[in-house]
Amino acid sequence: MPKNENTTKPGRWALVTGGASGIGYAFACELAQTGLNILLVSRRLDLLKAKATEISTREGVFVEYIQADLSTEEGIRKTISESDKFDITYLVLSAGTYDQGSFFSAVDFHIPMIMLNNVSAVSLIKHIMIRKTSHSRKNLILVSSMASGSPVPYFSLYSATKSFLTSLGCSLYNEGKALGINVITVLPGLVKTDMSTTLAQREVINYKKMFFYQLSMRTVIKGTLKRLGKQPIFVPGIGYKFLFIFFRILPVRWTLSIIMLFSKRSFAAYRREHELIAQAAQR
Ligand SMILES: NC(=O)c1ccc[n+]([C@@H]2O[C@H](COP(=O)([O-])OP(=O)(O)OC[C@H]3O[C@@H](n4cnc5c(N)ncnc54)[C@H](OP(=O)(O)O)[C@@H]3O)[C@@H](O)[C@H]2O)c1
Repeated sequence: MPKNENTTKPGRWALVTGGASGIGYAFACELAQTGLNILLVSRRLDLLKAKATEISTREGVFVEYIQADLSTEEGIRKTISESDKFDITYLVLSAGTYDQGSFFSAVDFHIPMIMLNNVSAVSLIKHIMIRKTSHSRKNLILVSSMASGSPVPYFSLYSATKSFLTSLGCSLYNEGKALGINVITVLPGLVKTDMSTTLAQREVINYKKMFFYQLSMRTVIKGTLKRLGKQPIFVPGIGYKFLFIFFRILPVRWTLSIIMLFSKRSFAAYRREHELIAQAAQR
């Protein structure tokens, strides 16, 4: 919950979902350095409190938080209503999650994931970006993924939800211009955060092998903010840019074959899971 009462908060604010960790936290720090006050949104209260204190002490700006589960209607509504008293000129949508293995095995997980990755994003954009602010220009940053550039077996739903975000963000780039809203969609490749570390623990990512594919947080954050309002989409890193274009021009069948070849080595954990499901289905 925001720390205090119902009054309108002074100053300009950046609302950052997933802002207490990883890419969201890095955006929050960078924006705080420019003098913006920060409103963090995520679920873990201890982390929200700790990061709010840390950023405000270091950067000398106000940092408040809304504890909300954005995979639920209640959490989305709470974020929309409690953010109403802040003059939000930046909206950064970084909260996100990935699917937990073979599409055919993850029966219960798809609705919360679509709610978080897509429904919450649409709802926050629609409510917050149309509010009147003190500033003539507003800014919207959507954190999508390289996985949105092509279909990705074993990350099927994740890549589908991220494709949705990328498509939405790119369309809004032009629509936003007419309304004074700068929109950029960033498609990071591999960045070392809690999310990718969990994947490493599940043997999906081998950091040693993928050393050359790791992006620095600085490349992602500074690069995005530099291009905000100037281009609709940003793929950080030369290697990933090349990969993005390559997968776009190849026939989908070839793209799938290449990704499956790659996944044979790197997505071993998911493959094992898939084989077990296939065996069970044959019995
Ligand atoms: N790391 C990468 O390699 C990579 C690559 C491409 C794209 N991305 C994208 O970058 C974004 C940020 O991920 P990250 O890598 O920075 O990982 P992260 O540190 O795990 O960040 C995810 C954030 O989302 C919040 N979150 C998760 N579920 C939520 C929910 N139901 N309601 C509200 N907040 C929720 C988490 O906080 P709580 O758990 O406290 O709620 C956390 O702060 C994601 O959208 C991800 O898809 C990451």
